[in-house]
Amino acid sequence: MKARVLSGVQPSGQLHIGNYLGALKNWAEIQGHYESIFCIVDLHAITVYQKPEELSAKIRETAALFIAAGIDPDQSSIVVQSSVPGHAELAWLLTCVTPLGWLYRMTQFKAKAEKQETVGDGLLQYPVLMAADILIYQASIVPVGEDQSQHLELARDIAQRFNSLYGETFVMPATHLPTVGARIMGLDDPTQKMSKSAAGAGHAIALLDDAKVIQKKIARATTDSKPAIDTEEMGPGIANLLTIAQACDSSLTKESVAGMRYGDFKKRVAEAVIARLEPIQQRYREITADAAYIDGVLERGRQHVLPIAEDTISKVKRAMGLYV
Ligand code: AMP
Ligand code: TRP
Repeated sequence: MKARVLSGVQPSGQLHIGNYLGALKNWAEIQGHYESIFCIVDLHAITVYQKPEELSAKIRETAALFIAAGIDPDQSSIVVQSSVPGHAELAWLLTCVTPLGWLYRMTQFKAKAEKQETVGDGLLQYPVLMAADILIYQASIVPVGEDQSQHLELARDIAQRFNSLYGETFVMPATHLPTVGARIMGLDDPTQKMSKSAAGAGHAIALLDDAKVIQKKIARATTDSKPAIDTEEMGPGIANLLTIAQACDSSLTKESVAGMRYGDFKKRVAEAVIARLEPIQQRYREITADAAYIDGVLERGRQHVLPIAEDTISKVKRAMGLYV
């Protein structure tokens, strides 16, 4: 049996180039080697309020972007998390073996909680649900961006604790980071991770931004006051642009841009990004022209993974002495 890969993206905000380089691109590259399951994690998205009509549109839009970015529905299962009840069910079972202290320690919880007037319990439970997404499919490889490393460590801790309390039940999942692009920073502030929820118009390159918008955002990206690239001492803004360019076009190495004036360099970065995103945007337009197609893919994905999820749930319930 092929080893299983699992990952997920929240259908909230606009997918950006950080999501693509940190996650989707990597998924597309490894999918053929494993049994792959890629989830649209809508139950995670609702840990902060989402407008219902926007959320339901985003779920399909995210599925279309997965496919446009190279996830092949004939090779991989594309699944909406809430369409498989086992995710939420396993999350509860795992909650009961997770010490509160582990959850309070999560940096993403602390950062998100600070921004909320009322902190919902779901925000604290978020990483337990993420552990459930992974463990329900006994996935051994989880390709994500660097910001998810702490959540994955927690998933392993939860699995270990469950296994030691109730007997060997879960496979230990390993984190799989991309070699380039594991942490893309904001264009407006290269000390902050590029994120869907950041407000500024110049912060992120959305996967669906057109060429002009991409050029403008990159031209305005924050750099330092040097005139040209000094490869010995690159500021964070230039280093981030180089990472983005390199992940889009591997011929753009540090050596190849040495001494380039910032204006010329930014043009080159924009070209690399546009060349990478244009075919994805083209495919996206084709896919979304056929609404029934996406629903068909999501139903196929669900049907494929349901028996795997049900099998794990029975195993876990039996291990815990629950009524099966
Ligand atoms: P999210 O936007 O939180 O749903 O993240 C979906 C995937 O994209 C996860 O694997 C993240 O680790 C990855 N990701 C999000 N932001 C970035 C970023 N700025 N750089 C690299 N990967 C990212
Ligand atoms: N928390 C992840 C993020 O925001 C998304 C996610 C949910 C996920 N469940 C997962 C990623 C399971 C990997 C595996 O980026």
